[in-house]
Amino acid sequence: MGIQRGRFITLEGGEGAGKSTQAQMLAEALRGQGIEVVVTREPGGSPRAEKIREAILSGLIAPLGPVAEAMMFTAARIDHLDKTIRPALKRGAFVVCDRFADSTRAYQGALGNIDPRLIRSLERIAIGADKPDLTIMVDVPAAVGMARAAQRGGAPDRFESEAPAFHEALRRSFLEIAASEPERCVVVNGAQAPEIVARDIWSAVQARLPVAGEAPKMILMPKSKPRRAAKSRAGGK
Ligand code: TYD
Repeated sequence: MGIQRGRFITLEGGEGAGKSTQAQMLAEALRGQGIEVVVTREPGGSPRAEKIREAILSGLIAPLGPVAEAMMFTAARIDHLDKTIRPALKRGAFVVCDRFADSTRAYQGALGNIDPRLIRSLERIAIGADKPDLTIMVDVPAAVGMARAAQRGGAPDRFESEAPAFHEALRRSFLEIAASEPERCVVVNGAQAPEIVARDIWSAVQARLPVAGEAPKMILMPKSKPRRAAKSRAGGK
């Protein structure tokens, strides 16, 4: 009997949805069940993909258009899958990934007006059979997300500096993806307090994946925890 493949969970949503905090909280909850968890993010998640991330978020690629951008995100994704995600799943770990292919569908595909067939082809090439087992759409009104992103401080990156209408369209696009693939996707209300969002995510994970037990105690995050803490992922900004 071989080792059972792990499970692949992605978190998706617009800017300031609180995905990174939730990724950390979910990982802790899973670890509480004795499960090995790899927390990662896109773009990035492997040394080469992190280099591509720097190029994209610096704004170097945007002038080349959404197709070039989609291809760069895909190039990063191929390396990330190869070096980080597949090896982890193979050894039985759960992978919790902050953004994945739905971000390419929404940002480059829907908002960049790319032919969906091209986006699907890129997904087939990059991802193949390793589609996420579960995708959590962390949904917040665009205004809430943007206010949160602004609170983080620092100069807005390539996408944070887009107009409010962009962020509303983005939100609709994620909700449409969720509606079109209900077997993979769950929408969670991200405008609630972080510990309530975490509880909702935990319920979804329990309902759909083989994890046992009650919601672990840790899910009640201490109030003193600074919101930014979870942002400091490997290779983070
Ligand atoms: P990041 O700072 O990680 O944003 P967030 O905290 O909102 O996740 O930057 C990633 C940016 O890249 C974000 O604006 C979404 C965008 N993106 C795409 O446009 N396409 C993609 O395929 C991915 C993975 C991200």
